[in-house]
Amino acid sequence: MNQLLAPVIAIDGPSASGKGTVAQLVADLLGYHYLDSGALYRIVALAALRKNISWQDETALAELSRHLCIEFKDGEILLNAQIVTEDVRTEEISRGASEVAIHPQVRLALVDLQRNFRALPGLVADGRDMASVIFPDAATKIFLTASAEVRAERRYKQLMAKGIHANLSDILQDLQARDARDQQRLVAPLQQSAGAILLDTSQLTIAQAVDTILSQHEAK
Ligand code: DC
Repeated sequence: MNQLLAPVIAIDGPSASGKGTVAQLVADLLGYHYLDSGALYRIVALAALRKNISWQDETALAELSRHLCIEFKDGEILLNAQIVTEDVRTEEISRGASEVAIHPQVRLALVDLQRNFRALPGLVADGRDMASVIFPDAATKIFLTASAEVRAERRYKQLMAKGIHANLSDILQDLQARDARDQQRLVAPLQQSAGAILLDTSQLTIAQAVDTILSQHEAK
């Protein structure tokens, strides 16, 4: 079997839907590789901030995206050999990632990087356009979502657990703004693609979401 035929499970959905946790668990249980594509957009936003490049400057951002040295190692994210795992998770960078992601040239610059994660025995890829653009031939396509209120509350609890002060209604507003930007952009907008199974986790535990995805994949 060549690498191109390695099966892909594409998990798309809005911010804070629990995609990351669920996708990583599915990958671990199957022994598959894992691609956190949102991290790439977060890294572009962070690298731009550090180099004083505006999140609106599409040409400079695309150039930057083509030359990033990104590694995922032992659960850490590295940019130019420096650990940035926590730095890319701030609310500021969450907003920046959503802003840089609207630029078609930036998205194009990241396509090959994402496809290179596909390797045997398989890949779980999480993002917004995994099923529609990056891996349209994915074996299993899931659109994982939850209500904005449930997602805001999950995010709020995560921040509190880390000792970070947060305001629930600010988080909800931020999430809704990001949802709108991700859904309304012209290129690769966030949407449930044809053939994707809708999985609303508002009333599900993480284990139930993982089980549902595993049984969908086994059924293929
Ligand atoms: O999944 P995440 O919250 O880490 O993603 C951060 C931002 O990156 C999100 O607001 C939109 C963008 N993104 C994207 O446009 N396409 C992807 N495949 C993944 C993320």
